[in-house]
Amino acid sequence: MKKTSVLRLIALLLVCRTANAWADPATITIDLNKPGAQISPLLYGIFFEDINRSADGGLYAEMVQNRSFEDFNLPMGWTLLNEGGGAVTMELDKTQPLNDQNPTCLRLDITRVGSGGRAGLINQGYKGVSTGTKDPVVISFTTDSPDSPPPDWMQRFADAQQKPENGMNVEQGKTYLLSFYARLNSDFTGPLTASLEKQDGTVLASQEVACSGVGWKKYEAKLVAAASDQDARFVLSAKTTGTVWLDMVSLFPADTFNQRPNGLRADLMQMLVALHPAFVRFPGGSFGEGYRLSEAFRWKETIGDPAQRPGQWNIWGYRASNGLGYFEYLQMCEDLKAEPLFVINCGMAEKDSVDPKDLDPWIQDALDAIDFANGPVTSPWGARRAAAGHPAPFNLKLMELGNENGMGYSWGGGTAAEYALRYNPLYQKVKAAYPDLKTISTAPIQKPPLNAPVETVDEHYYPTAEWFEDHAAMYDAYDRSGPKIYVGEYATKKGAGNGNLNAALGEAAFMTGMERNSDLVIMSSYAPLFVNPEWRDWNPNLIVFDSSRVYGTPSYYNQMLFATNRPDVVLPLDLQLPQAGGTNPHKPLYAVAGKKNDTGEIILKVVNITGQPQDTAIQLNGGAANFNASATVLTSASPNDENSFDHPTQVAPKDIALGAVTSPFHYAFAPYSITVLHLKAP
Ligand code: AHR
Repeated sequence: MKKTSVLRLIALLLVCRTANAWADPATITIDLNKPGAQISPLLYGIFFEDINRSADGGLYAEMVQNRSFEDFNLPMGWTLLNEGGGAVTMELDKTQPLNDQNPTCLRLDITRVGSGGRAGLINQGYKGVSTGTKDPVVISFTTDSPDSPPPDWMQRFADAQQKPENGMNVEQGKTYLLSFYARLNSDFTGPLTASLEKQDGTVLASQEVACSGVGWKKYEAKLVAAASDQDARFVLSAKTTGTVWLDMVSLFPADTFNQRPNGLRADLMQMLVALHPAFVRFPGGSFGEGYRLSEAFRWKETIGDPAQRPGQWNIWGYRASNGLGYFEYLQMCEDLKAEPLFVINCGMAEKDSVDPKDLDPWIQDALDAIDFANGPVTSPWGARRAAAGHPAPFNLKLMELGNENGMGYSWGGGTAAEYALRYNPLYQKVKAAYPDLKTISTAPIQKPPLNAPVETVDEHYYPTAEWFEDHAAMYDAYDRSGPKIYVGEYATKKGAGNGNLNAALGEAAFMTGMERNSDLVIMSSYAPLFVNPEWRDWNPNLIVFDSSRVYGTPSYYNQMLFATNRPDVVLPLDLQLPQAGGTNPHKPLYAVAGKKNDTGEIILKVVNITGQPQDTAIQLNGGAANFNASATVLTSASPNDENSFDHPTQVAPKDIALGAVTSPFHYAFAPYSITVLHLKAP
């Protein structure tokens, strides 16, 4: 019998037993005629950070790793192809760059091609590992100096080139858009052949590109795949000798989400669509701060021609191309029908900060970012947005002034006083120019030198599931006279495996408290959003992917349950627990109820963190007594259960039709479960 059917049978049996005697049931009483706080429409959003290869090699659909040869001072990600006994070498070259923002290119010297052979370059896609270093890496190892062995990550990077994970995902019948810049030496006349191949060299798609002329020239070609392979490689080769310089070697599937050029992976975007996020916080956390200011996210360097974007060293151990830049983030939010929330760097990195007297350029960045998003096409930055293909404003309403600044150095962001000295002028100038923009501060700074208002504070939590459970009522007693709260980053970090049901249970318990207090807690977002496991720098995460596969963790489905079942108004709920039994010091059940204004539907969310079914008598007062009921249940046999590439929906919600119920009725909340009960008056 399928698990859904078993659940349905148990639920039905229990619903039908309303007349029976029950040993110590819990009771839930809901007042239908005393609606409480409005639930913020922005309560459930998402937080995208370029971490764990979430952007390049992830959501950003570029298939070529190190396309601009800027990632390291060695051509990491590229290897030589030499078929037929020829002679070919490559080296990074800065002598005649493509442009100032992109100072390094690759020089390919083919001095001999064996008969019937070919020589050139191979790119394996995003096979590799994080360096684990917060500062940019300069590789000092050379074969002449055996005393300085290569860093450990280089061996793991090389090992990853042999693994199938993160090879290029080529799908039969699909089109792949190639572009690259080449500069030809007089001894090279081409042509170059671009191909997608299996690892054994079987060609999946191939296109000859005629080359000519002097100086840098852009070449484009379409590759149409005759067959599929999830571990394909890209090859650029020649059958003739000579020297050619290459840069910005880029390959995208034509089928990006909404067919956007320079766009996003459709399968990963579909995972986000299913979450129905009310907003998207971007581009990070620590990524936006940078370890040092020199590596902070400066949005003006992330717009326009991708070949002109300098990129930045990412604090999470690899270089970010920022091909997914400010414009693409805004477009992504629009495509998701979600409000954009831009986290602007306030002049503070994790290790250094701009002197407050030199803050003006950083403040100007914030003002110009708003102009870029919202200004008319005649404004300086509105014109740049229009030139990028989006004359209509994006309507940016939310901006966070920094990230984790002022939460102390243990969070990597400086003291509250240091933050206040930068927050004050940033807030004042942004609000003076854009009074309607809603700002978010990163720490509860409410004393001198703070002298600017704090509208909303971003709180971050990464504890155990038990901490979340024990703090589920935390906001019930919060001061309502202070700023609103945005829980901008939270996740069960300890005892979470690689994202297990236990983690989701803790988060769900806490979320019942956020929803109940949504007059105060107006926004929330789980963190981080994505992980490519080969590049994992943080654990756990909401969505797991490699170049061809994707699945959501139980926490992903929990987020989906809350976001797609957000009522408009809280209904008062009284939860009485049976006599405490056993040794578990944590409450077994957590609950919140609300009502949808348009349909009148009552939505009751209940989290059972125990391994026993929790029989509960549910009573609805002050309104209808008869309902059509259904339940959506996220559960599994063990709290340690996880999803995986092989079993992507082992822990996923199941719908159960319960039929007609009359208040009061009984329902047994399944062991280790998050349940959404839908009650509709007929
Ligand atoms: O979500 C991962 C990191 O946690 C974020 O980059 C940072 O803001 C927080 O410390």
